[in-house]
Amino acid sequence: MSLKQLKTNQLKMIERGSSSELESSIHNVSDPIFIIDANVYRLYQSSFTFINEANFPCWISPAGETTKNFKSLEKCLNYFLKHNVTRNTHLFVIGGGATSDFGGLVAHLILRGISWSVIPTTLLAMVDASIGGKVAISNRSGKNLIGSFHMPQTVYINPTYLETLPEAEISSGKGEIIKYAFLSKKIYDLVINNANMSEIIFECASLKKAIIEADPFETKNSRIQLNLGHTIGHAIEKAYSIHHGTAVSLGIWILHNIFPYQNFATDYQKICTAIGMSNEPDYSFIKFKRLKKYLEIDKKRDSKESINIVSIDEIGKFQTKNINLCDLETKLQELL
Ligand SMILES: NC(=O)c1ccc[n+]([C@@H]2O[C@H](COP(=O)([O-])OP(=O)(O)OC[C@H]3O[C@@H](n4cnc5c(N)ncnc54)[C@H](O)[C@@H]3O)[C@@H](O)[C@H]2O)c1
Repeated sequence: MSLKQLKTNQLKMIERGSSSELESSIHNVSDPIFIIDANVYRLYQSSFTFINEANFPCWISPAGETTKNFKSLEKCLNYFLKHNVTRNTHLFVIGGGATSDFGGLVAHLILRGISWSVIPTTLLAMVDASIGGKVAISNRSGKNLIGSFHMPQTVYINPTYLETLPEAEISSGKGEIIKYAFLSKKIYDLVINNANMSEIIFECASLKKAIIEADPFETKNSRIQLNLGHTIGHAIEKAYSIHHGTAVSLGIWILHNIFPYQNFATDYQKICTAIGMSNEPDYSFIKFKRLKKYLEIDKKRDSKESINIVSIDEIGKFQTKNINLCDLETKLQELL
């Protein structure tokens, strides 16, 4: 993939109650096809009638994570290939991060790659998952192990979708917003000054886009900042099957209790209070013994004795620390 292709991704905010920009984009595409998350389709069916009326091929994807597998991928590819897609076909994917991971892989594979755009419908997808072109499905060996990079042309963000999103999914998205508030003083200020959620979403999405464009091939040291809270967060997510963003915010909290900077507790409290999350996260359910297994799985895969962990020195300033895994485990054991 060329650098140019990686830079084509645009962000567009769709104003509340208006989808005209998206609709005109769809009408400007000669050959649109659609993948829509099943729950989103059920909840917003009336807004999708134009798809049926125009007879555009539309694949209703099993809801959320249940679509990210080979079976679903095969069915979906067969469905579109039967509908005679061409290199000019443009795929619109409407759903959360699971649907955009899946739909992006479909776009990547059909005819060796067609263009695609995303309309993220969860908070986590609006601020993070729909941006950056990492697309994947999962199999029994693990999550997101089969995938590629395929940058969407446009990400249309319409916060109106959040009105129907379950509370646990909203909290998960807020977990990623906490991450961005630590990475960017601008986002931190917006959050603690109770800026409008649409503005916060757009700034988080813009920051992710900028970070990816500055380091498209993950060869520099800047894209790694997106992993803040993820090493411990992923282990928590796997060990306790909790939502991704929720696990990331716990990961940030635990990491900085092990490697604190002076104002961490105050900053964390300010951010969480402002976005309506608990400012004293309950981590009492996390037991080191259970977590260790999942940290060890990563250790085996990487065959490494140490790992690079991103931490914060002050709001808007991150650093990468190379930490011996045994030392990390000892510190986690003391805390958990
Ligand atoms: N590619 C990336 O860079 C990246 C980054 C982070 C996470 N991810 C992936 O994102 C996925 C998680 O995505 P997610 O948190 O957006 O969840 P999701 O896509 O799994 O959706 C969660 C649930 O919300 C429902 N839903 C979606 N929109 C809705 C709406 N507007 N109203 C009501 N219900 C709605 C879905 O049907 C599903 O049941 C994971 O698979 C993760 O691997 C990818």
